[in-house]
Amino acid sequence: MTAYSDPLVQEWQGFRAEWEDEARDMVKRWREGWPAESSASRSRPALRPRKPDAPAKSTPTAGMTCTSTPGSMRYEWRGDVSSPEIETLHASGFGHAITGYDWRSRLERYSLGWVCAYDCEGLAGFVNVPWDGGTHAFILDTVVAARASRQGVGTRLVAVAASEARDAGCEWLHVDFEDHLAAFYLDSCGFRPTPAGLIRLR
Ligand SMILES: CC(C)(COP(=O)(O)OP(=O)(O)OC[C@H]1O[C@@H](n2cnc3c(N)ncnc32)[C@H](O)[C@@H]1OP(=O)(O)O)[C@@H](O)C(=O)NCCC(=O)NCCS
Repeated sequence: MTAYSDPLVQEWQGFRAEWEDEARDMVKRWREGWPAESSASRSRPALRPRKPDAPAKSTPTAGMTCTSTPGSMRYEWRGDVSSPEIETLHASGFGHAITGYDWRSRLERYSLGWVCAYDCEGLAGFVNVPWDGGTHAFILDTVVAARASRQGVGTRLVAVAASEARDAGCEWLHVDFEDHLAAFYLDSCGFRPTPAGLIRLR
């Protein structure tokens, strides 16, 4: 397990540690092939509620040298981020052209929330948390700017999302991902592997 100084991630990893043996076994079985045993009947130990981070605006400082470090990153839940800010970050992270996608309207309408990470250059990380209005929330569009990558920002974004979804009454946080991101979602973020399905509709 990667160790981070961040208190929320430490709390989340402490919670995970209670399941570590089982989680390790499930990851092993996931890597060897399905099916893995369901452990849905296990009850989750309570995480202490956390207070959301203080709101912060994206205010890039002209002429300032920006060094993105884990300690200088600010995280917001349901922050006042603009569609172009998200689209610019998303386009660079997922390798597509920047479009006029209306992120804000969709987030407000369909998401339980979203988490933004800011450094001195502005938006450096984002994750969208849509939900079913009840007990299931979903991780989508996880992205971290290249300047801030491999510093634990993605892990922290997901930890904030998990904590907020839990505080909102959700019982389950879902994600699907490509094989090469197993280390990120399973080992670092604490997801357990589970069979899932996907149909390309268009
Ligand atoms: C995936 C992503 C969000 C990870 O963000 P990040 O802040 O760099 O991740 P972290 O620093 O928290 O990574 C923790 C660990 O996860 C694993 N990991 C992170 N990014 C990874 C990647 N791109 N490929 C493989 N493993 C990765 C590593 O084990 C890493 O630990 P290490 O740095 O000590 O090796 C980022 O790489 C990204 O934006 N990718 C492009 C968009 C994308 O594919 N998003 C996922 C959609 S499902």
